[in-house]
Amino acid sequence: MFPPETAHSISLNSLKVLSYFNFKETNILDSKKLEIMNLSFSNRLGLAAGMDKNADYVDSLASLGFGFLELGTLTPRAQSGNLKPRLFRLREKKSLINSMGFNNKGIQYAIEKINSSNTKAIIGLSIGKNFDTPLEKAVDDYLFCLDRAYPFCDYIAVNISSPNTKDLRKLEGKKYFSGLINSIKKKQEKLSKQFGYKPVVLKLSPDIHEGELENICKEVLDKTIDGIISSNTTAFHNYPLNGGLSGQELFDISNKNLLSLRKFLGTSFPIIASGGVMSRDHFKKKLELGADLVQIYTGMIYKGPVLVKEILDP
Ligand SMILES: Cc1cc2nc3c(=O)[nH]c(=O)nc-3n(C[C@H](O)[C@H](O)[C@H](O)COP(=O)(O)O)c2cc1C
Repeated sequence: MFPPETAHSISLNSLKVLSYFNFKETNILDSKKLEIMNLSFSNRLGLAAGMDKNADYVDSLASLGFGFLELGTLTPRAQSGNLKPRLFRLREKKSLINSMGFNNKGIQYAIEKINSSNTKAIIGLSIGKNFDTPLEKAVDDYLFCLDRAYPFCDYIAVNISSPNTKDLRKLEGKKYFSGLINSIKKKQEKLSKQFGYKPVVLKLSPDIHEGELENICKEVLDKTIDGIISSNTTAFHNYPLNGGLSGQELFDISNKNLLSLRKFLGTSFPIIASGGVMSRDHFKKKLELGADLVQIYTGMIYKGPVLVKEILDP
């Protein structure tokens, strides 16, 4: 009945009200608890970045039973994102196209929200660059956010794969990739002396050519990046709409990437899978293909919180 973006906001606010009256983190545990990246996950299911961009709903979302929540993507300064409408439902295909463009209230706002939350779920913070920061200076935005986020979360996700910030994906390319991850690793090392070691993971696009993906993986291993999230939305679709495609139609595409990543990164490298998980079978498939952890987003839009229960407590 409502435009998709309004419906999204109404749903999250309703969840907040409901969990206020019945607040207790649901203790549905997948049989497979997981120790990975120096973190202890109570189950393998996480919320993907973008649903709670500003960390406004941490406790209510955690109360659904997620083992981890990835918040953001946050940028150094608040920004309103791309022009509306920027979120479209492809109902029959159980998919979405979005061109949100990192609409967020800025990293400081989210940190204060996280600080006042009570959850025991693992908290990841996804960081990005402001739309008007030139690519040559992108590293400064990531370092700024990493510096702020580090003490307040359990892991940091470096988002260089959104199709909705102009040229962002060029950061995955030869020209910028090495410099960016070198600087991030250096900063992580420095921060770990003060706050203890926290993993930094990279979120990649599903649209990277196999050869290029192999080179990225070599560097990821060489520079000891802690994990990969695969994948973000795909920009390769035939719908006459701007933005990245997520949901059911992304499932096979992101699975193909997952297989390649497992091949290039070896059996024990931490991989978080994201893309098209709309059911428990999809969740299991991602694990079979080599994922350690799995995230959902579009499935939550079509099925609601019931999906979390379906996956963890069938
Ligand atoms: C409306 C919308 C906003 C998103 N915003 C972000 C974001 O800010 N940062 C990010 O890393 N991914 C973002 N994503 C991508 C999701 O985190 C996820 O990787 C992708 O949608 C694939 O998973 P799904 O098919 O389960 O939705 C967004 C996706 C959607 C649909």
